[in-house]
Amino acid sequence: MLAEELRRAGVTVECWYGRLALSPDPPVTSSWAPDVWTAPRVIEIASVKAAADALRGMQRNWAAYGVAHHRRMALIAARLPPVKARALVFPEPAPTAHLGAWTLLAAGRMLASATKTSRFVNGECRFEEDHIGPPSRAYLKLWEALTRIGDWPRPGQSCIDLGASPGGWTWVVGTLGAAVIAIDRAPLEARVAAMPGVQFRQGSAFAVVPEKVDWLLSDVIAYPAPLLEMVQRWIAPGGADRVVCTIKLQGETDHNAVARFAAIPGGQVVHLFHNKHELTFTWRRGS
Ligand SMILES: C[S@@+](CC[C@H](N)C(=O)[O-])C[C@H]1O[C@@H](n2cnc3c(N)ncnc32)[C@H](O)[C@@H]1O
Repeated sequence: MLAEELRRAGVTVECWYGRLALSPDPPVTSSWAPDVWTAPRVIEIASVKAAADALRGMQRNWAAYGVAHHRRMALIAARLPPVKARALVFPEPAPTAHLGAWTLLAAGRMLASATKTSRFVNGECRFEEDHIGPPSRAYLKLWEALTRIGDWPRPGQSCIDLGASPGGWTWVVGTLGAAVIAIDRAPLEARVAAMPGVQFRQGSAFAVVPEKVDWLLSDVIAYPAPLLEMVQRWIAPGGADRVVCTIKLQGETDHNAVARFAAIPGGQVVHLFHNKHELTFTWRRGS
């Protein structure tokens, strides 16, 4: 998916190194890349010590991305200040420390970028999971999306959760203390439906008439084009102030519809660490 996205953006990929697409072109905004190394430099290194010294001479925090030369990379990493990729406890904020990334292309050749787009090691946002409360693992997508935007439903706020069953996202909102109307053709798991602030309405997400709400959440299974039309109705004046919406991409990927989501002012389309073959659209009114 990233290769196709880069091709459509006119980016030359010289070669792939593991999951790294190496390109001589300037960095571009990408939905599919979990992390973009925005200032990559090739550094010839004579020794493990020389590699570590070169990195330390640039800045403190480095995350390694290993494809090969693992033993040598471990020796270099051992000479760097430790960077703890600790699992987050939702809703704690994402790390703010400046982080670079590096790899060994060959025993004597390092690729290092002092800057990158993700605040997470290799773009992987991990959480201390809750194995008891949520009825599905889908809650991790919403945790990640909310952590990335640095905002979440708060007590006193209102949410609509479309395609809510069995209730992972509704559970997230319920635990945060906001009010949520959950809509799905299928019922919610009973213990989620019984949470304070949760109301359930059985029916089609597409039949819901937009109203003023703080958050529109949607994890509905739908083709991107009708989903885009629905989201456009909700972000019109008098609708939602913020949107988190999964864009499902079964079968042939509708890149044009994805591009139309990405072109919505104030919106972003990202592939979350917890997304599978789907993207996540986030939007905030006035941003
Ligand atoms: C991926 S699941 C949602 C998982 C949920 N977000 C969670 O955290 O547990 C997708 C849901 O969309 C619902 N769905 C699909 N089409 C729908 C429609 N037109 N109207 C309402 N719900 C729909 C399905 O019934 C299914 O429960």
